[in-house]
Amino acid sequence: MQGYLWIKTAHLVFVIAWMGGVFYLPRILVNLAEAGDVPAVRERLLLMGSRLYRFGHIMFGLAAVFGLTLWLHFGITGGWLHAKLTLVALLLAHYIVAGRWLKGVARGRALPSSKALRWFNEIPVFALIAIVYLVLAKPF
Ligand code: HEM
Repeated sequence: MQGYLWIKTAHLVFVIAWMGGVFYLPRILVNLAEAGDVPAVRERLLLMGSRLYRFGHIMFGLAAVFGLTLWLHFGITGGWLHAKLTLVALLLAHYIVAGRWLKGVARGRALPSSKALRWFNEIPVFALIAIVYLVLAKPF
């Protein structure tokens, strides 16, 4: 039981760290879209974004290792987990798209409008609510 609780604790800590990146990377893109024509601001935002993007991938990797341990070693599974992992895959795709846009800015490519980026930034909120409900309620 202790092992299970420590693994789940680690899973949640790395999930929370990753979600910090999922929520903040699009904010950096909004700032780049609105203030990216000032070279000093642009360079700083690009540096912050690339460090955050790399950090987020490490946190996701660790969250996944502990999540897979809960699933495959402790045998916790069900329809809810498959639905949850589908949403997790969508969140990861959202994160990679944000990272691609950031790398595009570094190569001189244009960003979507800051309004579109603000809507893009809201998507993870709904996915996270559904993920947490699925794993706590296990409705199916
Ligand atoms: C990457 C692959 C992932 C796998 C294989 C996975 C798998 C699991 C499993 C098997 C549990 C244990 C459930 C239980 O003890 O009843 C769990 C707990 C949890 N997972 Fe994940 N997970 C993953 C990613 C995520 C992500 C990205 C999030 C949030 C964005 C998340 C949020 C949670 C939460 C909140 C719990 C704790 C629920 C509780 O306290 O009972 N997981 N996960």
